[in-house]
Amino acid sequence: MEKDESLAYPMSRECPFDPPPQYGELRRDAPFKKVRLWDGSQPWLLTRHKDVKEVLSQSNFSAEPLREGYPHIFEGRMAADKADQSFIRLDAPEHGRLRRMVVREFTVKNVERERPHIQEIVDRLIDNMLAGPQPVEFVEEFARPLPTEVIAYLLGVPYEDHEIFHRATRVQFGSTSTPEEVGASLKELLAYLDDLISKKETDPQDDILSRLVTEQLVPGHLDRSAMVDITRLLLSAGHQTSINMTALSVLTLLQNPGELAKIESNPELIRGAVQELLRYSSVIQAGVRRVAREDAEVNGHLVKKGEGVICALPSANRDEDIFADPDRFDVTRNASVHLAFGYGIHQCLGQILARIELEIAITTLFARIPGLRLAVPFDELRFREDMFVYGVYELPLTWNKPNLPSMNQEG
Ligand code: HEM
Repeated sequence: MEKDESLAYPMSRECPFDPPPQYGELRRDAPFKKVRLWDGSQPWLLTRHKDVKEVLSQSNFSAEPLREGYPHIFEGRMAADKADQSFIRLDAPEHGRLRRMVVREFTVKNVERERPHIQEIVDRLIDNMLAGPQPVEFVEEFARPLPTEVIAYLLGVPYEDHEIFHRATRVQFGSTSTPEEVGASLKELLAYLDDLISKKETDPQDDILSRLVTEQLVPGHLDRSAMVDITRLLLSAGHQTSINMTALSVLTLLQNPGELAKIESNPELIRGAVQELLRYSSVIQAGVRRVAREDAEVNGHLVKKGEGVICALPSANRDEDIFADPDRFDVTRNASVHLAFGYGIHQCLGQILARIELEIAITTLFARIPGLRLAVPFDELRFREDMFVYGVYELPLTWNKPNLPSMNQEG
């Protein structure tokens, strides 16, 4: 029998801060490489920045999971991906029609207006951390509530209900979730959202969902199931990504005190530092996926109709042709051409929001909590190798206690 020489995907990391070492070899020797998935299918793995960008720019490539040949990386997610009719999984022109309904909500101007509110949430979460016992489990106490509260507020979803959508995204983004678990969590979430939309119909407020209901659903530009799909997308797309980026960013800075000191002494650097953190971490570790609708040429390489493509963002963001010394974390480099938010028509709609959240979170945390540091040895941290979105499961942190006035001091 012929030996199967194809590479199994996903591959493992050797260092928690670096993507699998094979990526570097593939970029050099085999930038278009057939890999083998759990179901035996063999999509192309693309590891170079320029090839990933090219695929994500071409309308020859489809983002629709129902198409034959679309790469399903985890078994549990396949059913959810196939059932997902939100615009992240649709091609032009329907994708553009739906995206345009919400795009103005996430422009620089509109998101910048929310800065004071995001700052308020960050300050409150830090107050809670400072008031509670040490160590603090940072993912649970800060990284998770921050983006959840922000998006819930913008959409007009009661924050008290966050457990429902947190549970749903955790199950849907988990590589070990069974199709049954994914189906059950999806059902619960859809029923909840349907009910919420009814409430917005009867009692619209000043929030994104109310505006969508009044301007799109009621006049008939959007049917009810599409409305539920958009709501679900906006709630979940930025959930695991932002939580994990926040925790990983803090950890990366703690492990690179020299780079952290540069930001602390020159706060202007924070914008660029966030871009560098996005490049360096590339939390969407299992690739943005497409399937060729037609035979397509990508920088001289033929991808045949029906062949799947996995765009390895963590590899593209370490491409030495684009970033000098790419494995070095350097807050002063210009990393803005990174592909952590994807590229082309599906490029992340929430990227300005995500970046502002990270800027405020990092600046405020390190300014308000002197001596912030890991409360356990680095080797004890557990990383999310097995998940669609990379990160750290728990991040116990501690800091210098303030000097309390001594009891016998007068005044
Ligand atoms: C650091 C955090 C984030 C990262 C790394 C990230 C990454 C990405 C990537 C790579 C894509 C492209 C997917 C594809 O091409 O198939 C995407 C799309 C998207 N993201 Fe984000 N995202 C983040 C935060 C957010 C936030 C906070 C929101 C909130 C609204 C959001 C909403 C979306 C939406 C709606 C899409 C689909 C866009 C479309 O298909 O037109 N993301 N994101």
